[in-house]
Amino acid sequence: MKISNRITAIVAGLCLALPVLAQQSGKDVYTKVCSTCHATGLAGSPRLGNAADWGPRAAKGLASLYQSALTGTPKGMPAKGGHMTLPDAEVKAAVDYMLASANVKPAKPEAEPKKEEPKKAEAKKEEPKREEAKKAEAKAAPAPAAAPAPAPVAASAPVVPVAATEVSAADINSFNRLLKPASKRNLPPPEDGIHDPANDGTHALQPPLAAFGALPKAPSGNRVNWVEAIGQKKINPRYDRLDPKAEPIVMDLNIVREVKGSMPDVVYPHKQHTEWLDCSNCHPAIFVPQKGANAISMASILLGEKCGVCHGKVAFPVSECRNCHSKKKDIAKAPTPVAATK
Ligand code: HEC
Ligand code: HEC
Ligand code: HEC
Ligand code: HEC
Repeated sequence: MKISNRITAIVAGLCLALPVLAQQSGKDVYTKVCSTCHATGLAGSPRLGNAADWGPRAAKGLASLYQSALTGTPKGMPAKGGHMTLPDAEVKAAVDYMLASANVKPAKPEAEPKKEEPKKAEAKKEEPKREEAKKAEAKAAPAPAAAPAPAPVAASAPVVPVAATEVSAADINSFNRLLKPASKRNLPPPEDGIHDPANDGTHALQPPLAAFGALPKAPSGNRVNWVEAIGQKKINPRYDRLDPKAEPIVMDLNIVREVKGSMPDVVYPHKQHTEWLDCSNCHPAIFVPQKGANAISMASILLGEKCGVCHGKVAFPVSECRNCHSKKKDIAKAPTPVAATK
């Protein structure tokens, strides 16, 4: 029976070896995909070989890190590093590789209490901010060209979707806060409830009012008409955060959505959006790119979905009915005095 034992051993050995051979190593995956960000710490990513960056994350446990790498995080880690075709095992191998590079050992799953601590601390840190945000009520929208307008650069398009798709009902951004009456708008960054007052960078930002004076006015949000500001070339937002020469792909295509009842129809203009935003901000995560293929309602918009992913947060709020409901109905069977003035 020695022979058969040996055969079993060989077969078993082959079975183990095969998948290993077919799979890219963690290092390969890291080099090809993850290094784009994790080599330099781009966008706040933990850096290769940096124990200080990886230590606190490893404390969450390996399963949690795998999860982040596979499905992405709201703070900018794209699912599988943006390469959805990578097998899960290779993504995990790359995580293992980065942890090993930093000489960090992930916490064991049994270490539940340890896992809880950082979470609670985080929650506490967030609470006061939330309160402040409520108090500050409807201040400046962190508009596309973001409050600190000296560098309208901040309008960099790719920033929107990450936050946008991850908004949950518990998030301060999930409600159209600009529907609330405005008490104070355009407060300086350390007081606006959006920027972290403990961060030195916040204090270095130009206060919005110091920059907004020269811009065309709007009746809502942070009182700036950003579409006109671009039209009049008063601002020149950088289209790509990393590439100052990148030009937007502007698409001039209006989509008319007929509205039942008396409200004028909605005209969705691609032009004004694509001057700011890359197609990937909306397609396919928020809208299937096909006229009429998406069920949109005011309720969903108010809940921060569909158009409400941006409108009421970084673009004009829902209170400006006629900005969207701009097309008078052809058949005047339900006449309303609302003219499409805009
Ligand atoms: C486009 C930039 C980018 C690429 C590419 C990228 N990451 Fe990340 N990664 C980030 C950022 C930003 C963070 C920090 C996000 C956070 O704190 O939630 C991060 C965090 C992580 C974390 C820690 C998550 C946590 O819960 O603390 C892991 C693990 C990770 N990345 C793995 C990978 C792997 C594996 C790859 C390659 C397959 C990869 N990343 C590719 C940007 C990137
Ligand atoms: C701000 C969000 C947004 C951005 C950015 C955006 N779109 Fe759209 N797109 C929409 C909406 C909303 C619709 C209509 C969907 C519906 O009617 O259900 C649409 C529809 C479309 C359609 C279908 C047209 C038809 O007649 O069926 C195409 C094609 C399209 N978009 C391409 C693009 C391209 C290309 C870009 C980038 C240059 C882009 N979109 C950028 C929101 C966006
Ligand atoms: C990804 C973010 C995003 C989504 C989703 C989005 N918008 Fe916008 N929208 C903007 C930004 C940014 C502006 C320009 C800033 C502003 O006007 O506040 C804008 C401007 C507009 C304008 C003003 C055009 C003008 O000439 O003044 C209209 C109308 C509009 N959006 C309608 C819609 C409708 C309808 C939807 C849903 C079908 C929608 N938007 C979805 C971000 C978005
Ligand atoms: C950001 C753009 C936007 C703004 C601002 C907006 N709407 Fe709408 N509204 C829409 C879209 C998109 C639909 C869906 C149209 C469809 O059925 O395809 C809609 C639908 C409606 C409907 C039809 C029923 C429903 O819930 O779908 C009513 C009524 C309506 N809106 C009223 C209003 C009123 C009143 C305001 C101002 C307080 C307003 N809307 C502001 C985009 C907007």
